[in-house]
Amino acid sequence: MAVSEPIMLSLERFGEICADPAPLIYRRLFAQHPEFEDLFAMDTDGGVRGSMLTTCFDCIIGLTEGSRLPRFELQSARLSHQGYGVPESQLDDMFTAIRDTCREAL
Ligand code: HEM
Repeated sequence: MAVSEPIMLSLERFGEICADPAPLIYRRLFAQHPEFEDLFAMDTDGGVRGSMLTTCFDCIIGLTEGSRLPRFELQSARLSHQGYGVPESQLDDMFTAIRDTCREAL
């Protein structure tokens, strides 16, 4: 079995059992980093959080499929997010929150 297969199977299964993972994932992220919640104060309808999460899943799937594009996307996010007040070293905590939410649900 290729390394990518368990990741894709896990994401498929996660999608089946959890129609809207955004609240769970952001709750976990904000529990670990309460200071990040205020950064989304203007995101009253959750659109930015939803779009950001979609980008994160696209990065995971893209890397799993061997695409190089997510590497550039992540490099760009590391820079742009410094402007939002997110230190480069903490950007990956979003992926930790996604991983742990998937793991708990599965
Ligand atoms: C702890 C981790 C992260 C925090 C706290 C965070 C925070 C934010 C905030 C506050 C915004 C809204 C900025 C604004 O318009 O005022 C944003 C937007 C965005 N973030 Fe993140 N981010 C994190 C990780 C990531 C990661 C890993 C990615 C993946 C590439 C990412 C991709 C994006 C994208 C694409 C947007 C624009 C969404 C849109 O408006 O359509 N973020 N992020």
